[in-house]
Amino acid sequence: MDSELDQLDALLALLTQAVRTIKSAYQEAKERIPDLDDPSIQARTPRPNGEEVQQARKIVRGASAQLLAVVEEPEETLIQMANSAFETAALRVAAGACVADHLLDRPEGVHISELSAKCGIAGDKLARILRLLSCKHVFRELQPGVFANTRLSARLSKQHAIWDFVGHMTDEAFRSSAYLFDALTTKPSKTPFAHAYEFDGGYWEYISTVDKAMGERFGRAMMGVGMSEVGPFLSNFPWDTLPEGTTICDVGGGIGTISMALAARFPQLRFVLQEMPGTLEQARRVWGEKAPEAVSGGRVEFRALDFLKEGPKEGCGLYYLKHIIHDWPDEEAVRILKNVRSSMRPKARLLLHEFVMQPLVPSAAEGPDTSNGAHSAQTLTDRAPLPLLSNYGAGGLRGHYADMAMLCMLGSQERTLPEFCALAGRAGLELRRVWRLGGEQRLLEFGLGEGGKEI
Ligand SMILES: C[S@@+](CC[C@H](N)C(=O)[O-])C[C@H]1O[C@@H](n2cnc3c(N)ncnc32)[C@H](O)[C@@H]1O
Repeated sequence: MDSELDQLDALLALLTQAVRTIKSAYQEAKERIPDLDDPSIQARTPRPNGEEVQQARKIVRGASAQLLAVVEEPEETLIQMANSAFETAALRVAAGACVADHLLDRPEGVHISELSAKCGIAGDKLARILRLLSCKHVFRELQPGVFANTRLSARLSKQHAIWDFVGHMTDEAFRSSAYLFDALTTKPSKTPFAHAYEFDGGYWEYISTVDKAMGERFGRAMMGVGMSEVGPFLSNFPWDTLPEGTTICDVGGGIGTISMALAARFPQLRFVLQEMPGTLEQARRVWGEKAPEAVSGGRVEFRALDFLKEGPKEGCGLYYLKHIIHDWPDEEAVRILKNVRSSMRPKARLLLHEFVMQPLVPSAAEGPDTSNGAHSAQTLTDRAPLPLLSNYGAGGLRGHYADMAMLCMLGSQERTLPEFCALAGRAGLELRRVWRLGGEQRLLEFGLGEGGKEI
């Protein structure tokens, strides 16, 4: 860029183009552009969410943030960032007190005195919290002291699975993050979570022994996120070509949201859900409610597993690990991969579903991005147009947020493709193919390395 003026123009041009793309996707789908003040949650699917639209949304996010960073005084930008913790705290109050539920079906709004009584929180304080959120369109103040739901706040209702994710992030993850600096500078062998909760074990131990309600919420949180991201997962991998009776082993599958979505769409597939006993119990309950025919038809088997100690069920066609490897430091990650490999027959495939970290600075060695159905590591990169940062900057934050959650909660990390390949290589697995999913997530397909020999 020759000057900041050029940068502004280039950012504006990106924004204009991206917004046009989004508008025409809505027009083509014969959908209205969302009204921020409209809390009605349409059951409509699919909303425009194709790859092009997702890309355009990333550009809008990245370009808006970059535009602000250019036009604002640096102090202002930093003040805004430093204060954003209060948004998290306010979200925690709104979600924890179920404010959105008390506003459901009340388009005329509810007076703060009524909300205060229902939430058990002093009205003057609650109103200030809701005003902060209303500045970001989460709730709306219709007249002084009268609040209503919006497009965003309506999703904060307990009825929606994302409610649990917001609870998880704004409670234990947020609390742990407050200890990040202390943990790094005083006792780095302990995670910020361990500092915050004064607990010597890990998060998984904590939620399965000390606070099981937190564990149940974590399971539902993963379900909420999983459901919101399932579209590209179902459409971008050729599930329909898997032969009749193929068994998918969902290793550390949580409640098994993804398997449940696959079971509903692809009747030829069978599933083995493998988890720690407590989560498996929760999974059984949820499948019984949401997918009773898969359970009664014997298409899903629930099996306890400690993947650090043993391999999953042998002889499945496909082993699927969603957000498992990112939970563990390298040594444990390799142990898990080796355990899975020990159960794989020569033609079995392993799918790692993970955020794949993108470089902020493009490397000269990267080839062009020929995207969908990428065969090789070279074609993985999704490089943003200039003047955005190579990873879209604020448009590519989800992977970095997840990386911070790993650092704070588990002492683990998100990884780049070469890092995944190095871990898998140590476990005797070879990368076969990279499948694009929404955002920064990918399906990394591995097969047995060294000609499928035992290692
Ligand atoms: C980040 S969650 C992912 C859950 C699920 N795959 C998903 O994406 O919704 C990680 C899962 O690993 C499970 N887990 C942790 N330690 C485990 C172990 N040693 N053996 C088996 N599962 C374990 C947890 O119970 C949790 O459900």
